[in-house]
Amino acid sequence: MVEENMRRKLIVGNWKMHGSRDQVSQLLGDIESGSERLLKDVEICVCPTYLHLGLAFDLLASKSGVGKGQIKLGAQNVHVEAAGAFTGEVSAHMLSEYGVSYVIVGHSERRQIFAESNQFVAEKFMAAQASRLTPILCVGESLDQRQDDETERVVLNQLDAVITVAGIAAMKEAVIAYEPVWAIGTGKTASPAQAQQVHRTLREHLDRLDPAIAKGMRIIYGGSVKAANAKELFSQPDIDGGLVGGASLEAEEFISICKSADQESCKL
Ligand code: 13P
Repeated sequence: MVEENMRRKLIVGNWKMHGSRDQVSQLLGDIESGSERLLKDVEICVCPTYLHLGLAFDLLASKSGVGKGQIKLGAQNVHVEAAGAFTGEVSAHMLSEYGVSYVIVGHSERRQIFAESNQFVAEKFMAAQASRLTPILCVGESLDQRQDDETERVVLNQLDAVITVAGIAAMKEAVIAYEPVWAIGTGKTASPAQAQQVHRTLREHLDRLDPAIAKGMRIIYGGSVKAANAKELFSQPDIDGGLVGGASLEAEEFISICKSADQESCKL
C-alpha cells in the first residue's frame, strides 16, 4: 500500500518559447518578490529558454544565490551527449554551469514536433542525471488514445521505456509529470478525479517495482493548470504539484498557483 503525502509539492513553470530579455527579467523579479511570503513547503522552479538561462541565473544569483533561494532553475531540454559536433544542442554539464537543477525530458511537444522516441527520452533522462540534474519525465496520452481507453497503457509504456534503460533505482532522483496531450494549451484540464486516477496508476506501478521509490516519487500534473483549478488538483492524494505552461507567464497567476500548493502542503 502506497502511503500518501510524504512529498514536498513542486511547481514548475515551463515558459516554452516565450519572452524577451526584458520580459524574463520582469517576470522572474515579480515571481521572486511574490513568492517571498510563501512557506518552505513548496518548491518553485522556472524553465526559461536556453537563451535566457544565463540571464535568469545572473538575476537569481544577485539575490539569494541560484538553488539556495526558493526559486530553482530548470531547462526545457538537454542533449544526450556530453560534447561534440551536435549543432544547436546543449549538454547537461553546460546546463549545470548555469545553476540548473531540473530538466524537462519527454515533453509531448518534443515527442510530437521533434519526433523524440522513448529511447531518446530515456537517454536524455540519463544524461541529465549524469550531470546531477533532476529529470522531469513527461508522460501523457493523446485525445484519441484516451477515447480508445489506452491511457494507462500509453503512460506506463512511456515510464517503462525509461526504467528499462535507466533502471528503477534511477527513479529515486527524478520527477514524473503527467501531461495529457489533450489538456496542454487547450484550456481543457483533466478533472481532479481523472488526473488522480492516472497519478495513482503510475504510483502503483512504481510500487510494484520499488515501494520506497513509489512513496517518495513526486508526480506532478500539467495541462491547463491555472489559479482557478490548482487547489482542487493539488488536494488529490497523488498529485504532488504542477507543470504549468501558459499560466506561468503571468507572475500573479503563477504565484497564486504556488500558494495553492503551499496550502495543500501545510495540511499534511
Ligand atoms: P499549459 O499549462 O499551457 O496547458 O501547458 C502545459 C505544459 O505543457 C507544461 O509543460
